[in-house]
Amino acid sequence: MKQVELTPGYWISPVIKGGWQLSTGHSLTKSIEEDSAISDIQTFVSAGISTLDFGDIYTGVEVLVGKALRQINDPSAVHLHTKYVPNENFLENYDRSDARDIVARSLDRLGVSRVDLVQFHWWRYEAHHYLAALEELFILKEEGLIREVGITNFDLPRLQEMVVSGFKPASAQLQYSILDRRPEEGMVEYCIENGIGILCYGTVAGGFLSERYLNAPEPSSFETRSNVKYKLIIDDFGGWALFQELLTLLDSIAHTHQTDIGTVASAYTLAKPGVKAVIVGARNVSHLPNNLLIPEIALSPSESASIAAILDRSTGPTGPVYDLERYNERHRSIMHTNNN
Ligand SMILES: NC(=O)c1ccc[n+]([C@@H]2O[C@H](COP(=O)([O-])OP(=O)(O)OC[C@H]3O[C@@H](n4cnc5c(N)ncnc54)[C@H](OP(=O)(O)O)[C@@H]3O)[C@@H](O)[C@H]2O)c1
Repeated sequence: MKQVELTPGYWISPVIKGGWQLSTGHSLTKSIEEDSAISDIQTFVSAGISTLDFGDIYTGVEVLVGKALRQINDPSAVHLHTKYVPNENFLENYDRSDARDIVARSLDRLGVSRVDLVQFHWWRYEAHHYLAALEELFILKEEGLIREVGITNFDLPRLQEMVVSGFKPASAQLQYSILDRRPEEGMVEYCIENGIGILCYGTVAGGFLSERYLNAPEPSSFETRSNVKYKLIIDDFGGWALFQELLTLLDSIAHTHQTDIGTVASAYTLAKPGVKAVIVGARNVSHLPNNLLIPEIALSPSESASIAAILDRSTGPTGPVYDLERYNERHRSIMHTNNN
């Protein structure tokens, strides 16, 4: 897979393997089998999806990635993107030594001396220490423990505050998809102007954007926390009927391009200005052949116009990036905010 330059000198695959699906507790019904998860990581890397996204709070995943790395011929060809997510109950009394401790723990779990990207998340802006935490990450970068510092889920005013304060992140990981276009309210433009690469999650809406849900009745019970999260996004998008219209259109586009709905949906987002990569969650290798096609799919002007006509009728989600997840009880209640 042809790589893209995320920030000067740092190249990644434009499709990233998402690791949340491998964490303990992600599935509400099934557990992950360690040996196959490790061999799946190797298969993705050999196929060209060389960038892995995971997090300090994805239970068990950093250790799993570390084990996979030790069995890969050239581990330096793998791009490791973790996160730093301080516990919510600690934010008022935040001590920046936490950043150092958590990054050291990530390196230890991964068995590496430097991680390529640490993406910083902060649960509550009312607790003001996020700039101190970010500054500490930049110090760790200076010390060589982190190659690049990124952020995830911060809104535009906070990103502007970081840049003005001299802490410009290399990347912003955001929920950005055909269903959720909140980043288009200023965030995308600012990232482009400032050379901050956008890494998108949610591009297949936890699997909702797939043949499995085409013409299916609206579900009321869910297998994964991801499904719970994205069903709320579908509700905000305009509900199940409008979502079905979109799925039907994406299905016909997928037939034209000889691929599947999820691939078209991810390709739609990858082609957006400012987007450097899409992060697609993987429980196993079943979607890998289609995931590899994502950068190859170019939608025609008429396909794009048909999609736009449906999106024009959608009602949301609206508001700043991640505000619903931060402040709206429906969205917020599925988050685990003290996992570290
Ligand atoms: N920064 C954050 O706050 C944040 C939040 C969420 C996620 N993330 C990151 O982003 C990654 C992906 O996001 P997500 O977890 O929300 O999930 P997602 O990528 O929207 O959905 C992943 C699921 O979709 C299905 N899928 C993948 N490709 C498909 C295809 N071509 N056709 C049909 N189904 C397909 C698979 O489910 P089945 O195996 O069941 O088919 C897969 O487990 C995560 O793993 C994580 O690394 C970050």
